[in-house]
Amino acid sequence: MFHAPQALLVCYDENICWKNHKHEEDGHSAGEMDATIVLTHMMLQAWELGIGSCWVCSFDFKATRQLFNLLPNIKPVALMPIGYAAPDGVASDRHPKRKPLAETVHYL
Ligand SMILES: Cc1cc2nc3c(=O)[nH]c(=O)nc-3n(C[C@H](O)[C@H](O)[C@H](O)COP(=O)(O)O)c2cc1C
Repeated sequence: MFHAPQALLVCYDENICWKNHKHEEDGHSAGEMDATIVLTHMMLQAWELGIGSCWVCSFDFKATRQLFNLLPNIKPVALMPIGYAAPDGVASDRHPKRKPLAETVHYL
């Protein structure tokens, strides 16, 4: 994907991650939240080292699970292709588009 030479598959272990018993859904797993925090830091650190990356969630989870022979308690969250960005690469035309803050931030 994106001709990246490597991709990291970030997962969490449902058996050992923290479960929130105060959540409206009692015992809600914090695994996905934890994994996305880690993945964000990996992305920032990669950039600090001059390495580009892309957060990818649109992939075949079932096929990935089979390919990597993941145990049922290991939950994939995202793929992160990493590599040196092509010097002639261009951002998508949606990149500079931003919703007005009033659409995304609500003051109560
Ligand atoms: C939850 C999530 C899932 C994403 N999944 C994909 C994906 O499957 N394929 C892809 O090319 N980019 C994916 N992206 C990356 C976005 O396409 C985009 O590159 C990123 O949000 C940064 O956008 P910007 O720098 O143009 O603002 C995903 C981003 C997020 C936050």
